[in-house]
Amino acid sequence: MKDTLTVIHERTSVRHYTPQPVTDADIETLLRAAMAAPTSKNKQPWRFVVVSQETAKHTLAAHLPYAAMLRDAPLAIVVCGDTRVHTDESAISWVMDCAAATENLLLAAQAINLGAVWTGVYPYPDRIQTVQHTLQLPAHIIPLNIVAIGHPAKPARPKDKWNPTKIQRIENN
Ligand SMILES: Cc1cc2nc3c(=O)[nH]c(=O)nc-3n(C[C@H](O)[C@H](O)[C@H](O)COP(=O)(O)O)c2cc1C
Repeated sequence: MKDTLTVIHERTSVRHYTPQPVTDADIETLLRAAMAAPTSKNKQPWRFVVVSQETAKHTLAAHLPYAAMLRDAPLAIVVCGDTRVHTDESAISWVMDCAAATENLLLAAQAINLGAVWTGVYPYPDRIQTVQHTLQLPAHIIPLNIVAIGHPAKPARPKDKWNPTKIQRIENN
């Protein structure tokens, strides 16, 4: 098993896949990792729509900008927030909670040698409507993203994003 930091630094967006399906065991591994994420007040306001149906993937690929890879991805997991869960001024917390879940999912994919990419849905109203309509989601279930997943068609090289100028230190003298 790869260690955590290796997985974090190896992860990169993968947009080309072989036709090999993702097994149910692997899907459960990804979803267990997603649901292990931290959430505000431990409310876990997420829903995960697991899409392997060709018609649905093709419709999403055709109507969402920057998500053409969904056509060839054996699997798509749509990470959604249930807007009924947080009701007060923390209503938008589902976005952070679902983003944390998504990163866990992406890292789990890397850990089991799958390739994945986050394709953006929220906050674009037209994309949200397309996904809700295609997957017949109720209005209170808002898709944050669609993660395309499969076995990488070729080795992927992570980008080096280390940039010390992004860091500010507040220290004792
Ligand atoms: C909020 C968000 C939205 C994104 N939307 C898309 C998208 O619609 N299509 C896509 O191909 N990649 C998308 N990405 C992936 C980014 O392009 C990618 O993470 C970024 O270029 C850095 O590359 P890396 O993931 O390989 O480190 C998105 C990532 C995030 C976090």
